[in-house]
Amino acid sequence: MEFVEMKQQLFERIQQKKLVSATISQPRKKSDTLKRVKLKPVEIKGQYHIQLEYQYERILKHENVLLENFHAFLEVLFQKFRQFHGQFTDSTIQIQLSKKNKVFWKEEKMESIKEVSLAHNRKKNYLLEESTPYPFLVRLGVQTPEGKVKKQKYDKFRQINRFLEFIDDSLDYLPKDRQIRILDFGSGKSYLTFALYHYLKIEKGLDIKVTGLDLKKEVIEECNKIAEDLHYDHLEFLVGDINDYHDETSVDMVVTLHACDVATDMALARAVKWGAKVILSVPCCQHELNRQLNAPQLEIMTQHGLIKERFAALATDSIRAELLKLVGYEVQLMEFIDLEHTPKNILIRAYKTGRKANKKELERYRAFVEFLSAKPFLEKELKEYLS
Ligand SMILES: C[S@@+](CC[C@H](N)C(=O)[O-])C[C@H]1O[C@@H](n2cnc3c(N)ncnc32)[C@H](O)[C@@H]1O
Repeated sequence: MEFVEMKQQLFERIQQKKLVSATISQPRKKSDTLKRVKLKPVEIKGQYHIQLEYQYERILKHENVLLENFHAFLEVLFQKFRQFHGQFTDSTIQIQLSKKNKVFWKEEKMESIKEVSLAHNRKKNYLLEESTPYPFLVRLGVQTPEGKVKKQKYDKFRQINRFLEFIDDSLDYLPKDRQIRILDFGSGKSYLTFALYHYLKIEKGLDIKVTGLDLKKEVIEECNKIAEDLHYDHLEFLVGDINDYHDETSVDMVVTLHACDVATDMALARAVKWGAKVILSVPCCQHELNRQLNAPQLEIMTQHGLIKERFAALATDSIRAELLKLVGYEVQLMEFIDLEHTPKNILIRAYKTGRKANKKELERYRAFVEFLSAKPFLEKELKEYLS
């Protein structure tokens, strides 16, 4: 399809009032402070308009344009951007333009007609909206092609959205003048990896390179295939063990979601060594301390297996947080998701400050691990930073 025909086809659909919502992103000039533009139809004083939400680096601006005047705006938008993702009443359309305006057009027809809401301020609960089909969520089996979140995948959808909120809150800590390097360790089926790529690259228009790493070869192959099919450049998936992964010199953000047991600690240690500015980590099962724990003063609690397991898990996350603090991070343990939905509900959020720990803080930490007879893997990994 030619560039001119592509714009014509899009405009026809918009003229037929089939647009539900769309995002135009990937600025042609990297220096452009306008990162993306969101489109949605709105009714103002009984007249059909297209609302443009201009997303600059730090501010949002809105403009409402009468449908008959929109054509000129579309022309300008495609002079500025190379990516389009649109939800229409009967299909989703994804367009990628090369630098020379070679058109890649992907359209997926929908079985049922999607309704258009013309309300001026549509309520938005999640960063990824429930009724918008996202190609990666459809491919990963979280959504139906019409955008309905599958019942059995609803917890995953909620978790991804919550994680994206933490990522969104951390954007100020990430570099603005160069590509942002992000690693997802123990990425598994990579719901989160795809979601953060979609959110930061497609929705926010940020220059990012994302790698998901996992031990499972088949799963990683499938993730790479999806990324390739969706033309997600700078998103890759690698097979490997976190502990053997030394391929980076500098990383800006490390994320983990339910990386098993000490895999979380391996990821935290890597993040510290690379000087990551942001670490967001939701740990999973914690067995290490449960095996080591030997504190006679706590026997009233630890005589009960269930209590011992929970105590060990909480103490493990406290130790992780303290170690990160001692090596120069500001750390908070946050509630990730309501306990009702998953017991794995603590998120470790760490922002690099570079502040050095003092002797007293180190002593406080040492007394605590000694009391528990704990020999944390993470402490061994961070030994050189703790002197
Ligand atoms: C519970 S899954 C979570 C997957 C994904 N983050 C999610 O939330 O859907 C944990 C993943 O960690 C991976 N994993 C565990 N230990 C690892 C290691 N040492 N190196 C790389 N991946 C590891 C497992 O293969 C598994 O896919």
